[in-house]
Amino acid sequence: MDAAWMDLGYVVSAALFIFGLKKLGHPRTAPLGNTYGAFGMLVAVVTTIVKMGVDGGIHWALIASGLLIGAAIGWVMAVRVEMTGMPEMVALFNGFGGAASALVAMSETWRWLEDSATIPAAGLELQVAVLAAGLSALVGWVTLTGSLLAMFKLKGGFKLLWVGPWIKTPTWGPSWLNGVKVLLLMSVFAMIGLQLAEPTNTSLMWGVIAVSCVIGVVLVLPIGGADMPVVVSLLNSLSGIAAAFTGIIIGNSVLIVAGSLVGASGLILTFIMCKAMNRTLANVLFTSFGGSDKETVTRTKVGSDPDEVAMLLDGAQKVIIVPGYGMAVSQCQHQVKEFADLLTEKFDTEVKYAIHPVAGRMPGHMNVLLAEANVPYEQLIEMDEINGEFPEADVALVIGANDTTNPAARGDVGPLAGMPILDVDLARTVVIVKRSLSVGYAGVDNDLFYMDKSMMLYGDGKKMMTDLNNAIKEL
Ligand code: TAP
Repeated sequence: MDAAWMDLGYVVSAALFIFGLKKLGHPRTAPLGNTYGAFGMLVAVVTTIVKMGVDGGIHWALIASGLLIGAAIGWVMAVRVEMTGMPEMVALFNGFGGAASALVAMSETWRWLEDSATIPAAGLELQVAVLAAGLSALVGWVTLTGSLLAMFKLKGGFKLLWVGPWIKTPTWGPSWLNGVKVLLLMSVFAMIGLQLAEPTNTSLMWGVIAVSCVIGVVLVLPIGGADMPVVVSLLNSLSGIAAAFTGIIIGNSVLIVAGSLVGASGLILTFIMCKAMNRTLANVLFTSFGGSDKETVTRTKVGSDPDEVAMLLDGAQKVIIVPGYGMAVSQCQHQVKEFADLLTEKFDTEVKYAIHPVAGRMPGHMNVLLAEANVPYEQLIEMDEINGEFPEADVALVIGANDTTNPAARGDVGPLAGMPILDVDLARTVVIVKRSLSVGYAGVDNDLFYMDKSMMLYGDGKKMMTDLNNAIKEL
């Protein structure tokens, strides 16, 4: 087949990746974006296989078994994964992506040892190849060990190994560990530098792999479980960068394009998440947060009951629902949707949902859960847009949200200082569903709970929303 057709195949797949990314920007178009991306990958794989067939170096049985086994594992995992287990699965796939890139780069350099004719011509070509191989190994192995550790942390540690509780502890990590990270990184760069003079030195190659694996572990080890989504997003970006370096080594343009797209989009998402949490990336990576230094709650507040809240809702013309992490934990999104439907049907109430960009524990967490319960996208209103509507809302119903509504964020001190929040406290009445007065992820007590206009509905989200719905039905 003509080489131009293969290039065209790569251009089509790259274009599909770009259109797919664009469509992923909105929940409504995201499924189509996913399909574009998957189709782009199919075109890239088929083009590469055809290219290999034309070049005459293809092992059909190996390719077919790899595709079959990989597709079967991917299918089973995707079908079985719970919505709350999504970050773990993404972490695992990132790790495998990084390792795959590093292994391909390694196999390419391995050929240099076996057949010196395959070594690129001395000079710039060789230097670029050695540098790309070294960087692919560094980024790929860091991604593998870092992602595996991130996955175990998200799962809550190992069940069988004695290291379990220790791995899980978010605050582990003496201050000198940051110095160790820098030293390890410098030693990898030194080894890659030496490889430029000795491209076939296997000790240096194994050295880069071993130290990179350690860097992945020490990078992720001290980070608190709740910061993991940011780290997973960063590791996702790294897996793309590793793929791009590998693309340079094997001269595959679509791998360079796809890797760069993953690298850039992962990095953008990482910074968006950091910004919405009012943290810097360095702060997430080099200081422990989430799980430590939580404020002790000493104040009290008498709880209300579903019947009282149902009567209050009877006269409400506008209600804004504010979901948070507790809705995900109690999986009460279906009861929340039923609640909204009841209000609209029974009392003709206008109901909207206020979506904070970092509510929950992963990007788009609330959107995904509410979409699963068939809440129309038009009712999901982003923070900047809905904040102006709180003063005219009769009731703001907060379900398992805490930090994202905490007025302490408007101050200058504390972990939440400066984080944009939902202006829930401006609504006429605030009803808060949660099990206790305890703090959220940032560990800061919430003044919202103690305001005169606030009513606490203490209990698990699902139970409370079910009871509230029953109380409304009985009115
Ligand atoms: P949080 O501030 O984490 O508070 C969640 C609240 O849910 C807790 O106070 C808890 O109170 C309640 N809760 C837990 N289980 C519950 C259940 N079964 N039923 C009812 N309530 C339950 O939640 P948020 O407002 O969504 O804020 C998210 C936080 O996570 C932010 O600080 C954000 O920066 C951080 N974060 C977000 C992300 C992303 S990308 N979304 C990533 C990392 C970190 P009780 O124990 O009293 O029930």
